Amino acid sequence: MITDRKLEHLLICENYDVEFKDKTTGFEDVELIHKALPEVNKNNIDLSTSKFGKKLDSPLFITAITGGHPYSKTINEKLAIVAEEKNIALGVGSQRAAIEHPELADTYTVVRENAPDCLLVGNIGAPQLDLASDAVEMLDADILAIHLNPLQESIQPEGDLDARNYIDSISKIVDSIDIPVMVKETGCGISAECAKQLVDAGVSYIDVEGAGGTSWAAVETYRSDDKYYGELFWDWGIPTAVSTAEIVSSVDVPVISSGGIRNGLEAAKAIALGADAVGMALPFLKYSTDIDNMIDFIDRFEESLRIAMFLVGAKNIEELKNSNLIIKGKTRQWLNDRGFETSIYSRRCNNDR
Ligand code: FNR
Repeated sequence: MITDRKLEHLLICENYDVEFKDKTTGFEDVELIHKALPEVNKNNIDLSTSKFGKKLDSPLFITAITGGHPYSKTINEKLAIVAEEKNIALGVGSQRAAIEHPELADTYTVVRENAPDCLLVGNIGAPQLDLASDAVEMLDADILAIHLNPLQESIQPEGDLDARNYIDSISKIVDSIDIPVMVKETGCGISAECAKQLVDAGVSYIDVEGAGGTSWAAVETYRSDDKYYGELFWDWGIPTAVSTAEIVSSVDVPVISSGGIRNGLEAAKAIALGADAVGMALPFLKYSTDIDNMIDFIDRFEESLRIAMFLVGAKNIEELKNSNLIIKGKTRQWLNDRGFETSIYSRRCNNDR
């Protein structure tokens, strides 16, 4: 049953409009300050980061998409080839199906076979303490991601609706394995309050996965006979720019900004807000039939990020993180109403920037 569901999710995301309708990521409200005197050689800009345990050539994660169905094996194989060639990080989809049905394990092991050196991220749900060590071993994972998806569970017909004791389970998962744990949402974002709880529980990284990209209420609407709830909650969640700013100003762990990020300029804004890397899922699924298209997409992403860095005079990711910016409109209002100071971003200017 899980396997059929996974296939349906892939087919729906490939063929239907599953993105937010009216709500956006908020990055349109973030403006980097143009520097007419960049004082940087664009050809020497360094996109690499070592914040996540292995050095990545650019601050990009292909976030969790799939596994657990024969159709997903081909997708994972291609994603792995691309991630290894470009030396970026790669997450797999929830591993539960393959742990419960070992005959599906090759839909995940194909990833490490094709990406021997890549930073790989395993994936389980918050209550699945019993699956943690098997998930790590199956993938020879560098990081284990725990996904949070209460909206999807609410809308999908077979959803798990008892979300008690998740933080306790997450803390036990942290203690039960010897690699770092990341917690990710799946398109509704994570608030400052939840981020603090996660870091107190021992989580090493937070992957925002905010609102503005793939909507899991949308995906489940296409699967449900009763469309009422999915349509009502289609646009639910904290916009990615807001969630990113809340998290980076509340906890001191590396943060991946994701959920609706689609290009290098949005990535530059997310990193200037304080993220250490960005993640994308849906675009990689859409390009996953063709390795060259995926490489081309990543090359364009990296070049756009490099141009943005040049235009703000940042030689590397740490300098980009300290760039000046302003936050306008709804995003500013949301953050201010929640008690977050937005003008700090425009007052960052150390005198020579
Ligand atoms: C996902 N996502 C996901 N996340 C997760 O933690 N475990 C999973 O098994 C899956 N499965 C999955 C399947 C498909 C087909 C897609 C498109 C996505 C969620 C994903 O990692 C990400 O959080 C959201 O898709 C938001 O990012 P984008 O798509 O807007 O870049």
